[in-house]
Amino acid sequence: MSEIILNINGAKTPVSAPGDETLLSVLRNRLNLTGTKYGCGEGECGACTVLLDGKATKSCQTLLSDAAAAKITTIEGLEQHGQLTFVQQAFLDEDAFQCGYCTSGMIMRATALLHDTPAPTEKEIISRMNGNICRCGTYPRIVVAVQRASHSMTKGAAR
Ligand code: FES
Ligand code: FES
Repeated sequence: MSEIILNINGAKTPVSAPGDETLLSVLRNRLNLTGTKYGCGEGECGACTVLLDGKATKSCQTLLSDAAAAKITTIEGLEQHGQLTFVQQAFLDEDAFQCGYCTSGMIMRATALLHDTPAPTEKEIISRMNGNICRCGTYPRIVVAVQRASHSMTKGAAR
């Protein structure tokens, strides 16, 4: 067990944990960042998605040692000074969730998608969001929420 300084949501964050512990476990169990969810633990559902250097990454499949050098963003790091991001606001506006268990992972993946492709087609949204599973089946509203966020972003400054 050694101390590692992680860069999480813009803050240098020391954590004492074995390097082979998953990033998901570190976030939830050591740092109390419980917005990132444990779904399958096997890389199949996307509930645990965070951003590593802006790239959507399944934290249950990422070792702490492999995340140590990256800029890590979790759902807790999106809102700034009480201002939700366009993606967060669009999910609320479109009621793009039921139980909400998949939602933080969906929002993180959508955030990465719109960073890379600010005006995706519906086909691109479906393709890029593939791999994040919603057991409640809110996929149609999730697609509409991503489209709404895209429209908002193209009208205003990205956030
Ligand atoms: S908990 Fe990581 S992909 Fe399901
Ligand atoms: S809203 Fe329940 S799993 Fe997606």
